[in-house]
Amino acid sequence: MSKNPIIVFEGIEGSGKTTHINSVAKYLKRRKFSFIKIREPGGSKNSELIRKLILNNKSTFNKKTDLLLYLAARSENIENLIKKNHNKKIILIDRFIDSTISYQHYGMGIKKEIINKINEFLLGKIKPSFTILNTVSKKNLIKRLKLRKNKNRYDKFNYNFYTKVQNGFLKIARNRKNYFVINSDKDIQSNKKKILNLIIKKIS
Ligand code: TMP
Repeated sequence: MSKNPIIVFEGIEGSGKTTHINSVAKYLKRRKFSFIKIREPGGSKNSELIRKLILNNKSTFNKKTDLLLYLAARSENIENLIKKNHNKKIILIDRFIDSTISYQHYGMGIKKEIINKINEFLLGKIKPSFTILNTVSKKNLIKRLKLRKNKNRYDKFNYNFYTKVQNGFLKIARNRKNYFVINSDKDIQSNKKKILNLIIKKIS
């Protein structure tokens, strides 16, 4: 594996992925590793503009438009950030292709084949080196979503939807060696250590 892997953090709302990616970034910065951190949708300038459009509470796009917007945001990141830094810097990504399969296919019923085709078209030879999948119980999901002050358009689905999406993530990860499942209902500090140890092993 490249010493400059593409590391993806996935999981539904409240699963702790953003907390973990931030703590990994802090560690890499302290140790002077060369890295970039991006999120999807978002990351690059144009992709952040698309993020605002999709997640705005006033938006009323249908699910196919949402899919195309998520993929458009990805295209901007791939062309402007990922390709330029691939194999040169460690690339940390908060959500990537599995979010599209989990939310738009498992959650919303759009055909997997269509999503896979466009992802292939956008990614070419680029693929994530490994993925940290964060899971959360329904009880903690409900608790954590209630605590969110500024809810966006995708924070407001019913809990059955998020359960379907999480099961989708788990289906993707099943039997795959480059997926690591982190149960966010367990102690956060020990999860942080687990993730960090895993990453240190891969980059040193
Ligand atoms: P987040 O940045 O707070 O995680 O929110 C982004 C939302 O966008 C989240 O609800 C998941 C959703 N999403 C999709 O539905 N499909 C995608 O392909 C991506 C990248 C995100």
